[in-house]
Amino acid sequence: MIVKSYTGDYEADFYSDFSFFEELKEKKNKFFIVDQKVFSLYREQLSALIGDDLCYILEAVEENKNVNMALEIIEQMVEMHSKRNTLLVAIGGGIIQDVSAFIANVLYRGISWVLIPTTLLAQTDSCIGSKSSLNFKQYKNLMGYFYPPTQIYINTKFIHTLEQKDYFSGLGEIMKCAIMDGFESFKETNSNMEGLLVRDEDKLLKEITKALNFKKRVIEIDEFDKEYRNIMNFGHTFGHALESTSNYAIPHGQGVSFGMMLANRISYERGYISQDMLEELNGAIEKIVMQELLKAEYFSSDTYLKVLKKDKKFTGKLHTCILFDGDGVKRHSDITDEEIMDSIKKFFKFGDAR
Ligand SMILES: NC(=O)c1ccc[n+]([C@@H]2O[C@H](COP(=O)([O-])OP(=O)(O)OC[C@H]3O[C@@H](n4cnc5c(N)ncnc54)[C@H](O)[C@@H]3O)[C@@H](O)[C@H]2O)c1
Repeated sequence: MIVKSYTGDYEADFYSDFSFFEELKEKKNKFFIVDQKVFSLYREQLSALIGDDLCYILEAVEENKNVNMALEIIEQMVEMHSKRNTLLVAIGGGIIQDVSAFIANVLYRGISWVLIPTTLLAQTDSCIGSKSSLNFKQYKNLMGYFYPPTQIYINTKFIHTLEQKDYFSGLGEIMKCAIMDGFESFKETNSNMEGLLVRDEDKLLKEITKALNFKKRVIEIDEFDKEYRNIMNFGHTFGHALESTSNYAIPHGQGVSFGMMLANRISYERGYISQDMLEELNGAIEKIVMQELLKAEYFSSDTYLKVLKKDKKFTGKLHTCILFDGDGVKRHSDITDEEIMDSIKKFFKFGDAR
């Protein structure tokens, strides 16, 4: 797949093995940033790729996704004589990607980097689209720019070692793109759900490709997220708030899944979708939401609405979010506190809702 960007075209290629390591081994002056867990799980294969090259092993936790960590890695790169011709190789999920993209963007005003995404979320969503985002204090994804890799190598074998919550997190993004593309597209993806739930590789490859193609269509119109790309935030306003009230115990894609269910409930209450449609959509999403992660205290109006009101799109009275109407999604900027809490109450039976 070729993606058009302001930096030029870049490619995302699919593999079911590590054969692309041979191509990478040929490249000179590499510096690796590797997810700690991935390094220990795939030590043998990765050691053969990394050889004597320089490598920073990074623990993939949100606390490490900040400018201090980026500076620490930059310091090491500079001390190890990295130059403008250094090729940064990032191996990991969204956290490793975000830190690596930031470093590649600012070091010597931009060095080349390539990405080997190892989570389903990164393979299906974040690997294209150019965004780099670092957290600042309690604010998530506050800093960053748009700086895509020159090449993405997607090996679906990595998916098999993901913990269930991280796997379901990626399925949430697959479901998001499927729904945004219309109800027929959702039904097609939902018909593959049985295979997806057991990590069937053929089904996964099909759905990863479908989701990336959808995202490609959007980002090629609005790479810098000025307006149209905003629709990709379906499920995100409510999802980010849940990530925050759970202090990031809820992974990103799980938050998005919850957020889509809540948004669909509001769509139904407003008459945008029928009850049958609501039940079919949310019945499917429910299968990939790990209910045991959701705690009542995350949803009390005190905590949940307070966090929602910190959203940059909150106008002082009304919330903005993306809602599905059966054909696709649209932005709505007139969502009230009551609608949100009523929908939580009717559907989720959490917090104030009990
Ligand atoms: N830049 C973007 O466009 C973009 C888009 C969406 C999300 N994000 C960011 O991505 C982050 C979430 O990323 P994520 O969900 O990909 O995961 P992650 O990087 O947070 O990793 C999740 C967990 O999976 C582990 N892991 C990674 N690969 C593995 C493998 N193959 N086997 C076993 N364990 C593995 C990690 O060590 C970690 O414990 C968030 O910080 C989010 O803000 C960025």
